[in-house]
Amino acid sequence: MGDMRRFPEGFVWGTATASFQIEGGIEERGRCIWDDFCRWPGKVLNGDTGDVADDHYHRYGEDVALMQSMGLNGYRFSISWPRVLPEDVGKVSDKGLGFYDRLVDALLEAGITPYVTLYHWDLPSALQRVGGWTVRDTAYRFADYAAVVAERLGDRVSHWITHNEPWVVAFLGNMMGIHAPGWEDVSQALQVAHHLLLSHGLSVPILRLAGGEQTQVGITLNLSPAYAASDSEADLAAARVHDGHHNRWFLDPVLKGSYPEDMWSLYGYRVPRMDVDDLEVIARPMDFLGVNYYTRALIEADPEGGLLGTRSLHPAGEYTAMDWEVFPQGLTDLLVRLDKDYCHPALFITENGCAYEDLLTKDGAVHDVKRADYYRKHLLACHNAISQGVDLRGHFAWSLLDNFEWSFGYSRRFGLTFVDFNAQARYLKDSGRQYARIVAANGLEG
Ligand code: FCB
Repeated sequence: MGDMRRFPEGFVWGTATASFQIEGGIEERGRCIWDDFCRWPGKVLNGDTGDVADDHYHRYGEDVALMQSMGLNGYRFSISWPRVLPEDVGKVSDKGLGFYDRLVDALLEAGITPYVTLYHWDLPSALQRVGGWTVRDTAYRFADYAAVVAERLGDRVSHWITHNEPWVVAFLGNMMGIHAPGWEDVSQALQVAHHLLLSHGLSVPILRLAGGEQTQVGITLNLSPAYAASDSEADLAAARVHDGHHNRWFLDPVLKGSYPEDMWSLYGYRVPRMDVDDLEVIARPMDFLGVNYYTRALIEADPEGGLLGTRSLHPAGEYTAMDWEVFPQGLTDLLVRLDKDYCHPALFITENGCAYEDLLTKDGAVHDVKRADYYRKHLLACHNAISQGVDLRGHFAWSLLDNFEWSFGYSRRFGLTFVDFNAQARYLKDSGRQYARIVAANGLEG
């Protein structure tokens, strides 16, 4: 323990969630590609689905009250596209929009600013049937959807995030087949990535127009700094390729208006087809960049390592239940690097957190010492970056609640709140109590 590290005044403290992972209420919405993927045998652990999840659709009032009791001043959630447009474009569901209306009102009443993500992976199945993100038209459908949502909520929502982690959508979903829609094709993944980015650019002015002057629009990327396993030329080059594939392929188009040349030539004939002014659209000025940080990558060159020629190492250290290394220094390094390489952008940590096996005691407590420690270290890492001049404006813990962790189903708990899925009961974990104390102090000792 040392001095008190205070965060800048007005720093946003929140939690993050995503529609498919918490809402449930499947009867009240259209189907999405994750509903289909969950029913594909062997794709999701234990055959878990998002049908009920945390039943947040019916219990949002309780969940907002929980956040209020923690003293949070921000909440990042996502909108379910098929709840708003259950049968494809044109047929807007008033009931679906009504849910988000009530959620936003409840948040504002509780003094919590909504940060709304438009796409956290639940593409309507109807759009997947006509090609999903592989077809250019889906980018325009997304812009239409953004317009519908912004028109309804734009008078009260001033912070919009177009996409969550396009890398994951493109590559886990289309190259590795471990996320919906479950394809395994590199060229397709690159085309999907391009259409996601295009849809981001198309919707920036739409979101701006629907709101007031205070409207801010950004995108959230999953970024992970790549360190070379040694100082050898080969390992340094491999780390650069890993960085190009995971980070720069998304950062550069959005913030610089170009794809990184080294990766463009490495991908060769697999690069996306695009129109001449696409990059101009993609790079339309936005207001902030959302960063999701969980771990780092330690990379060595590997001639057998497929197209990229790289291999991720598993160094000795501390690991979470996802087998992700706990590496807080990576967060400081990442933030400082973004600041330097991309002209001092306004940044939010839109996700940061960890899964551990939790034990609910008889008296309803969860003593999740490791998770509390993870947050403490990562918040100090954020503070360290701010001290170096980084314009970091907020931190959203992933997640408010234990929830549906994609291909891992309900087997991985990321919440600051423990959820008993049978009883749908919530219990604030020790890490959640610690987070609330940090929020109250707007800082922590370090
Ligand atoms: C991120 C996702 C989020 C959650 C965390 C653990 O990649 O955006 O939905 O699953 O990982």
